Amino acid sequence: MNTEEFRNNGYKIVDWLCDYFENIEKFPVKSQVEPGEIFNRIPDNPPENGENFNDILNDFDEKIIDGITHWQSPNFFAYFPANNSYPSILAEFLTTGLGLQCMMWLTSPAATELEEKMMNWLRDSIGLPSSFSGVIQDTASTATLVSLLTAREKYSDFEINKYGFNDKYKYRVYCSTEAHSSIEKAVKITGIGSQNLVKIEVDDKFAMKSEILRKAIINDIAQGFTPLCVVAALGTTGSTAVDPISVIGNICKEFNIWFHIDAAYAGSTLILDEYKHLRKDIDLCDTFVFNPHKWLLTNFDCSAYFVKDKEALIRTFEILPEYLKTTEVKYVNNYRDWGIQLGRRFRALKLWFVLRHYGLEGLRSKLRQDIELTKYLKEKIDSDKEFEILAPVDFNVICFRFKPNEIEDIDTLNKINEELMNLVNSTGKAFFTHTKLNGSFVIRFVIGQTNVTKENVDKAWELIKSKVNELKIIKGYK
Ligand SMILES: Cc1ncc(COP(=O)(O)O)c(C=O)c1O
Repeated sequence: MNTEEFRNNGYKIVDWLCDYFENIEKFPVKSQVEPGEIFNRIPDNPPENGENFNDILNDFDEKIIDGITHWQSPNFFAYFPANNSYPSILAEFLTTGLGLQCMMWLTSPAATELEEKMMNWLRDSIGLPSSFSGVIQDTASTATLVSLLTAREKYSDFEINKYGFNDKYKYRVYCSTEAHSSIEKAVKITGIGSQNLVKIEVDDKFAMKSEILRKAIINDIAQGFTPLCVVAALGTTGSTAVDPISVIGNICKEFNIWFHIDAAYAGSTLILDEYKHLRKDIDLCDTFVFNPHKWLLTNFDCSAYFVKDKEALIRTFEILPEYLKTTEVKYVNNYRDWGIQLGRRFRALKLWFVLRHYGLEGLRSKLRQDIELTKYLKEKIDSDKEFEILAPVDFNVICFRFKPNEIEDIDTLNKINEELMNLVNSTGKAFFTHTKLNGSFVIRFVIGQTNVTKENVDKAWELIKSKVNELKIIKGYK
């Protein structure tokens, strides 16, 4: 492809995307293909000779698009959203075109320095003190892994990096039973072992019971373990519960334990005055992560990771082969030493575009709109006797279930609600996912997609109710 062809094809892609966004609600939100369907449409071998770009684009429309689940549809209410936005997409386009490797300052000073500045902007906007330094990680899972690795090294005086684990290190890590699976994954990868992840019971709001945490720590110390790290959730994945950050932070201080806050989803709300109470004592943590790529209009991937002891982070990951030595190392950040990967994308650019385009006020009004819509829907659900909400609604997630009058058995209720969710999803008009809270299957209604409106929420709720009516007729529920 020469430059002129690239220009024309580039325009075509922009046109394609504009048409896509204008017509996105015509696609089934959740892809309706069967497993293997897309795989079987693609030839078993790559072409020997290059093909025409138009043919490739046509095939994209014919062979790929119906295997896409449309995360950017305003009728996507599943999981957590993966926001994007026009300024962010354009920045990603530039990033791809520039094709940088931002592993160290020398390989693109602007990428490094813009990243440092963007992390300072975000840090200040969420109320972390300037003693924290920030770096962009690809995902919250990676950030949590990086945090645990740093804790492991700091607490072993950097010996495990050198000699590997031995019997001396009997570490324990703590999180709640509602914590995200990335913590268990990190505990496995760091060599601490999933048996040494202590899952602490939660209260009726699904937040960690801090007195149980304290007891577990004391008990572990008595048994010869070293409590290494507590991971608190500021917004759990299931129901957005917030663990008691101040109490946990003080327990960590008392027992000299590393403290990581996983605010992957709800962390974005810290930019709002009305959520300022959540900022209280977050500076007790050693590390903090939240994902602008979830609910801050920034394309995946972009996890904002903050660390208090930058030197410990760098000492954990630093490695300096001859071919990477540069002279200005004392004066600049070389982000290759701030995490796992060497090669890094220019992710700060999309944050810069997003933060400048919307301004903090623009981002705040997006969050506020979603939170208001959630309150509006919650009232509707609350006043409908056929439904129950099973967790506090503090942000923009409602965990609810259909509860026919005569049915109390939890397994039966779980089956009914799974059936209901599948019925709704099979229409392609909206997409929901579930979790279990205290063993009860709940459908999660997450109102955070970039372009979601009241109309989308109303339509989705009406759809759920119409499927409930179908179920009632088919099964005879009252
Ligand atoms: C609380 C929490 N932590 C961590 C993660 C993992 O995020 P990522 O996909 O960025 O690794 C999620 C994902 O939804 C989450 O909800």
